[in-house]
Amino acid sequence: MVRGMRLVYVMDPMERVLPDKDTTFAFLRTSLARGHESFHCEPRDVYLKDGDVHARVREVTVSDASPYFKMGDPRDVRLADVSAVLVRKDPPFDAEYLYLTLMLERARNRTVIMNDPRGLRDANEKLYTLHFARHMPRTMVTSDRQRILDFVDELGGEGVVKPLDGAGGSGVMMISKTDRNTRSILDVLTLEGRRLAMVQEYLPKVREGDKRVLLLEGQVLGAILRVPRADDLRSNIHVGGTVEPCVVTAKEREIVADIAPRLLEDGLVFVGLDMIGEKLTEVNVTSPTGIQELSRHLGRDMGEPVIQWIEQRASDFRPNLRSIPV
Ligand SMILES: Nc1ncnc2c1ncn2[C@@H]1O[C@H](COP(=O)(O)OP(=O)(O)O)[C@@H](O)[C@H]1O
Ligand SMILES: [Mg+2]
Repeated sequence: MVRGMRLVYVMDPMERVLPDKDTTFAFLRTSLARGHESFHCEPRDVYLKDGDVHARVREVTVSDASPYFKMGDPRDVRLADVSAVLVRKDPPFDAEYLYLTLMLERARNRTVIMNDPRGLRDANEKLYTLHFARHMPRTMVTSDRQRILDFVDELGGEGVVKPLDGAGGSGVMMISKTDRNTRSILDVLTLEGRRLAMVQEYLPKVREGDKRVLLLEGQVLGAILRVPRADDLRSNIHVGGTVEPCVVTAKEREIVADIAPRLLEDGLVFVGLDMIGEKLTEVNVTSPTGIQELSRHLGRDMGEPVIQWIEQRASDFRPNLRSIPV
């Protein structure tokens, strides 16, 4: 086992992290248990100086009992000098996030970065999925209200609409030709034709759940099923979906095998696929979650293979980890 890595987590404030739900918290816990030091920063703490990328970080240690985390004093590190950088900032993908990924380019090939900043930039979670349209329900992306209504007609009179920059179920709605609110919903969603939206065939199987399949370097780590409340379309945990154990079907594994080469090409190592009725609806890459629930279902720490993967890659970069200056 490789010990003594220094890991920088670019993420949201620790105060916002739920110790029993958050995947980044699970990674922090596993890192600590495996003898690594973790350093926390937010995107705004990352900076360029004389062409090199640095961050103002604070050491963070986590615990299963309150206080759940402790932070050290701020210090400055050059990212090329640490063992790995984990980009775990929650959406939205805004200008600040875009600049973060561009600044991280300065550390490319000098340390491990998970996920690859170029992949994070390219893979808008909703649009990237369309590379794999063959595995998706019928989908259209447009800002044109009439085009959406025509497509909904084609789909048999109902569909699901979503903003391109949403997450956690935010803004996801069902629309129907017979609902007098539909045209107004579309005007709100598209800012009266000025903003793109996604329209998708409604998958009735969503009532059984939306499966989150977690992948590490193109391989299935496992899956959890998120079942929506009876009174909501959306299965997201954030909006009241409940989590159940599940298996990954042969068909779902085929889909994973088909899309994995592209994910690897784009440096998307830790990925969460959303699947409804064995159809792909989303490829989550910015800060996919589900590790804690999966670990509980399987009775073992599923953060471990992820941190082990980083250990492996970090030792490819630097055979003698302990000599890294911070
Ligand atoms: N095509 C669809 N058919 C049925 N339900 C859907 C469909 N697309 C999304 N949903 C429901 O809405 C939820 C959120 O949609 P998703 O596309 O995963 O966006 P988000 O990024 O907000 O999670 C899903 O968990 C699912 O319950
Ligand atoms: Mg989703």
